[in-house]
Amino acid sequence: MEGIRVIRGMRDILPAQSIWWRWMEGRLAEVCERFGYGELRTPLLEQTALFSRSIGEQTDIVEKEMYTFEDRDGSMLTLRPEGTASAVRAYIEHNMARAEPVSRWYYMGPMFRHERPQKGRYRQFSQMGAELLGVAGPAADVELIELMVESVAALGLTQTTLELNSLGCTACRPAYRDGLVTYLKQHDERLCEDCKRRMQQNPLRVLDCKQEACNKVAEGAPRMIDALCDDCAQHFFAVRGGLDGLKIPYHINHRMVRGLDYYGRTTFELLAEGLGSQNAVAAGGRYDGLVETLGGPKVPAVGFAAGLDRILLKLTESAEAPSQAPLIFIVSRGEAAWTKALQLMQGMRRAGLRVMSDVRQGSFKAQMKRADKDGARWVLLLAEDELKQGVVTVKDMQAGADSQDKQQQIAEDQLVDWLKKKTEEVEK
Ligand code: HAM
Repeated sequence: MEGIRVIRGMRDILPAQSIWWRWMEGRLAEVCERFGYGELRTPLLEQTALFSRSIGEQTDIVEKEMYTFEDRDGSMLTLRPEGTASAVRAYIEHNMARAEPVSRWYYMGPMFRHERPQKGRYRQFSQMGAELLGVAGPAADVELIELMVESVAALGLTQTTLELNSLGCTACRPAYRDGLVTYLKQHDERLCEDCKRRMQQNPLRVLDCKQEACNKVAEGAPRMIDALCDDCAQHFFAVRGGLDGLKIPYHINHRMVRGLDYYGRTTFELLAEGLGSQNAVAAGGRYDGLVETLGGPKVPAVGFAAGLDRILLKLTESAEAPSQAPLIFIVSRGEAAWTKALQLMQGMRRAGLRVMSDVRQGSFKAQMKRADKDGARWVLLLAEDELKQGVVTVKDMQAGADSQDKQQQIAEDQLVDWLKKKTEEVEK
């Protein structure tokens, strides 16, 4: 095993961090359920074609970032780089258009992209996403944006900026695209090599290139929202009206194009400060053609996904770790006291209390040290005297030295009730 390390861009989550993850996932599930969304769990592996067809052959994700391999039967499989494609596959496969035409789903879990790792960008990362399938009207876009903003805010991240754009539809985008290519051609000597290539295949992507020179060219480019057809313009106007009504501030970013090909009409990103270049904590948009592209009926849809690793980076900068139930620690001396301690712990755990002992069974002093190190709130002392009297000595590790509660004896048969009451008081 010597020398074998975790894979680059992937990380272990140790218990001190897991507390954060469990808390985050719990809060997010709560918010989604409050909006009427049900949890969808799909496999981590899908057929490669699912992603290349939906995300787009000429996107960075499909061209260079997928973890793809040949299965034993020769079929090509890919570790999911995102959740929308799987959700749509499931919608089609389970005949949801008939069973529940308007489906509201959320999901959480790991995604895989072979990107260059840096702060906030990993090769295995976790997303929480939500998809609303079956509704074409702007109310759906507004609901999704509200859910995105509320989800991130529920985790304590309120200093965010919402950016909004419309990418038009199959009726108006081709003409815009042509106009954009004409403009880009006039400036092509200033574009980077990647953008020269993008100009042919995916010209909209030139708009969000990070290179300084391309940036300058993009600044003067025609804007999609000036080229929207009447239907798209009306849709966008109504989405903005809904956001205004909810007092969700946003600004329009004419150059937000998103890195996945399935989008049309509304697209949005939620940005947080202090994360460097990886500042998008959530993003999404409308994808009305995807269900059909993947072989299903014509079903409109909209969704978003939030990057939990990035959100956590922000949270751990300032917030304190989510609290756990207070810890009870039993310190015992002698064989008989140890057996009694085991029985008491069994009862306490069954009653829902969080209790530990130092299983190394060292000296009283060593056990006390361990209790302190583990952050015990109460230490229960059990030795010959306590056994004889049928009591337990309880030390409150946070009570002041002269407090009455510092050390007291509680009858063994009242111990569980007493500790439950105290635990509830602390957790309040
Ligand atoms: P996306 O913009 O590719 O959209 O990813 C959404 C979020 O996932 C990003 O804003 C970011 O916070 C996080 N993220 C993406 N890549 C990484 C990475 N390598 N490391 C850490 N975090 C990352 C989608 O995935 C769409 N499926 C969203 C969607 C759902 N659209 C409609 N429905």
